[in-house]
Amino acid sequence: MRISIVGSGYVGLVSGAGLSEVGHHVRCMDIDEDRIDGLRRGVVPIFEPGLDALIEENTRQGRLDFTTSLESAVEHAEVLFIAVGTPPGEDGSADLSHVLNVARGVGHLLQSPLLVVVKSTVPVGTCEQVRSAIQGALDERGAQVPFTVASNPEFLKEGAAIADFMKPDRIVVGTDDEEAEHLLRELYAPFNRNHEKLLCMDIRSSELTKYAANAMLATKISLMNELSNLAERVGADIEHVRLGIGSDPRIGYSFIYPGVGYGGSCFPKDVRALERTASQFGYEAELLRAVEAVNNRQKEKAFARLKSHFGDALNSTRIAIWGLSFKPNTDDMREAPSVVLIRSLLERGAEVAAHDPEALDEASRVFDGAAGLHLAEDPYEAADGADALVLVTEWKPYWAPDFGRLHQSMRQPVLVDGRNIWSPDVVRRRGFTYYAIGRP
Ligand code: UDX
Repeated sequence: MRISIVGSGYVGLVSGAGLSEVGHHVRCMDIDEDRIDGLRRGVVPIFEPGLDALIEENTRQGRLDFTTSLESAVEHAEVLFIAVGTPPGEDGSADLSHVLNVARGVGHLLQSPLLVVVKSTVPVGTCEQVRSAIQGALDERGAQVPFTVASNPEFLKEGAAIADFMKPDRIVVGTDDEEAEHLLRELYAPFNRNHEKLLCMDIRSSELTKYAANAMLATKISLMNELSNLAERVGADIEHVRLGIGSDPRIGYSFIYPGVGYGGSCFPKDVRALERTASQFGYEAELLRAVEAVNNRQKEKAFARLKSHFGDALNSTRIAIWGLSFKPNTDDMREAPSVVLIRSLLERGAEVAAHDPEALDEASRVFDGAAGLHLAEDPYEAADGADALVLVTEWKPYWAPDFGRLHQSMRQPVLVDGRNIWSPDVVRRRGFTYYAIGRP
């Protein structure tokens, strides 16, 4: 099938690579010329395990190419995906200007029948707006070309995006058009092998499904973080509690890890946007508001710990931080808890030395040479001479560090484990003062 994808960001590139891998002919489009130039030379602008290889191979096979021309994307496609960003607007609702610009552009250029599929995460009702925008542009030209708009949200996780795309749990398609459903069934057939994964529904339900999934997951995390704060106060250990509840299959073990808060490009933005949608429809989403509030408070947790440990002396400390990305296996720092912590520490006058296996370039962009922040190439270099080490992101190489070496090189042996990855017994026996989340 001939497929175009407008927007070569995270979702667009992974989808493009995955769809070309199974034999479709995919054209990825973006208005960013540097990005497209790079991609043509095999330079992938994001860090995602396995993506480089997939793009290189499919480009070489002639099944994947890149363009900055919307015209060439429209001309190429039987199915055109919109996968541009929907950043939060000032009031937290999703900003649809990119999506609707693409829709208008498509309407101006359309010559032959097209299925337009909205993959960007968009509030309920957006597909209808996309349809009107395309129709409006066609009307301006006085042209009559048949087109359909369908919804097909993406559920991939950063760091595991290729696997998620190639072996999805489910493929959600929202359409009221039989022909569109057939086309999308054909397009996704290679990903739909073992059992039926394609869930076809009306457009509004499909649009809401994406937000509902993220809201449910974010709620699990915030509830767990709330319980961990309670555990600390009542003298319980949240790690025992986690196992005690996770063993109930109705609850399950996943997404109940307490920590220093969720970040990333999706959860914070989508919870907020869903809250906005609710209020636009005259409904007060109290639980969603609480999920967000608990998360914001949780992101201050590590700083609060350091403040209570060091008191006024905090301004003359050197604090080491391990992990800057919002989660392991990505260099993405959007809404990362590390950013909140580092800003608070620098404001307080502390010195910060931070390490991350992949996000150092991103960190130097985010902090732009902030005074008092040192970005270290090596985790032990970051810890050298530190008064405390805070583990913010649970990258694998941090799980079993050389505690002896750390103890020797730190000025004070204080560990703040923001993800509960170390054993309290082990680190205490090694002579550290150890703080975790929700543990005595
Ligand atoms: C998420 C959804 O999982 C994905 O389906 C959707 O398409 C986009 O948003 P992603 O943002 O890549 O994906 O990250 P995810 O792995 O879900 O983690 C989100 C955040 O939750 C991270 O900050 C992580 O550290 C945190 N988290 C996760 C916890 O704090 N505890 C947990 O138990 C699980």
